[in-house]
Amino acid sequence: MVLKKRTAIFISGNGSNMKNLVKFSKKKNAPIKVDFVISSNKKSKSIQFLKKNKIYYKIFDFKRKNKDEKKIFEILKKRETQLICLAGFMKILSESFIKRFKGKILNIHPSLLPKYKGLNTHERAIFNKEKFSGCTVHFVNSKLDSGKIIIQKRVKINKKDDPKSLSKKILKQEHLLYPKALKKILSRT
Ligand code: GRF
Repeated sequence: MVLKKRTAIFISGNGSNMKNLVKFSKKKNAPIKVDFVISSNKKSKSIQFLKKNKIYYKIFDFKRKNKDEKKIFEILKKRETQLICLAGFMKILSESFIKRFKGKILNIHPSLLPKYKGLNTHERAIFNKEKFSGCTVHFVNSKLDSGKIIIQKRVKINKKDDPKSLSKKILKQEHLLYPKALKKILSRT
């Protein structure tokens, strides 16, 4: 039997990666159990999904980051969270928060890191006439999109691609890559 890690997912927007991870976590051999979701956006389209799937969730807008992080930390402690997956989470966590969960926070980023850290990755990749972009799952450290890379997937950029079409293609790969990354790091623990 697989011992599933109690996992929290942090989101900000659509939450398609979160939904995909929830779906994945329900598989018998998945190494995670999604126990808790934090959204920094109360308008996230995912709230309905969370309600329907009876997943415990909280909204923190991070306007008072220190205060919110303290509250989040308390919840994570209480729920004995073992892993945090950032999935389209657009806030930057403080160094002290990251240190407390050292090696236990993962992020997915829509580029082939170390290229195109930060925002507007697809626009920049197309502008620079890159032949490939892709996505990366990595550990989170205190520098933006700079932690140890776990796994990457390359995606071809066609001449006709615009940021929207490229983002769609990459997102599809993200949904395959995040579960793969989790299996890669958790299958031996
Ligand atoms: C994804 O491309 C993610 O990598 C990026 O933002 C997008 C959000 O997707 N950071 P979703 O919210 O998981 O649908």
